[in-house]
Amino acid sequence: MTLYYEDDSVMIFHADCRDVLGTLHANAVVTDPPYGETSLDWDVPVSEWARLLIPDSLWCFGSLRMFMRRAEEFAGWNLAQDVVWEKHNGSNFHADRFRRVHEIAAHFYRGAWDAIYKQPVTTQDATARAVRRKERPPHTGEIAGSTYTSEDGGPRLMRSVIAVPSCHGYAQHPTQKPVGILRPLIEYSTPVGGVVLDPFMGSGSTLVAAKEAGRAAIGVDVDERYCEIAAGRCAQGVFDIAAASMSTSSIYDVLDTAWNSTGHGSDGEGQ
Ligand SMILES: C[S@@+](CC[C@H](N)C(=O)[O-])C[C@H]1O[C@@H](n2cnc3c(N)ncnc32)[C@H](O)[C@@H]1O
Repeated sequence: MTLYYEDDSVMIFHADCRDVLGTLHANAVVTDPPYGETSLDWDVPVSEWARLLIPDSLWCFGSLRMFMRRAEEFAGWNLAQDVVWEKHNGSNFHADRFRRVHEIAAHFYRGAWDAIYKQPVTTQDATARAVRRKERPPHTGEIAGSTYTSEDGGPRLMRSVIAVPSCHGYAQHPTQKPVGILRPLIEYSTPVGGVVLDPFMGSGSTLVAAKEAGRAAIGVDVDERYCEIAAGRCAQGVFDIAAASMSTSSIYDVLDTAWNSTGHGSDGEGQ
């Protein structure tokens, strides 16, 4: 296991994630593991990783087929919700089926839901209307009817189907996720100045999205080629300290704690 790259807000480990996950603390995990659905050399399902995680909040990309096949990986986790990433142009593996233009990100949690950090994401595209709430059905208890109003261009909860163009034309990884689909998941599940962990970081899209959102990030990949690409992207990125509620030194503290907990102290190998 090697600390491959480190800056103000990011740590990258070159390792099999199963060797380090038991030591890496973060507010939430946002990751895109191998689905085991292509002939790419690294696309081999990894067992045990979800069980080894320390955080109790996990966004995991996958296909319905993967989640059904790999259901045992998520034993001990509760499903909270799922989001659909709608791509502009999908894969066409089967000519006898619908053209597949989406992937799923499933949100799992462990322990009490109330203890899980969550900050629902809103978009500024409400349309003005006044809606009269109907009385709830008897099994949800008695409440009087009420109304709520929304304003043109005001906030509304982000919808669970999120359209973001895929990375065709500029991808540095064969299954690179666009920053635009990762950022709302990070903002929902990690406070400003908090830490997000990606055990299968590939080209480091989660780390870049975290930087843009004023969060710190820890990434792991077993393939050194992708550590190099992720480090290059992070070195170009801008960490929005102004948007962070933690001071810079606190973020250093968080990352130092993550590193020290691996048993390497501050004398680890840098890039
Ligand atoms: C689906 S890709 C992630 C792509 C990434 N979301 C991006 O935007 O570039 C999965 C990654 O997991 C890595 N991987 C596979 N097995 C691993 C393991 N045991 N530990 C750490 N990384 C692993 C692969 O090298 C690959 O880069």
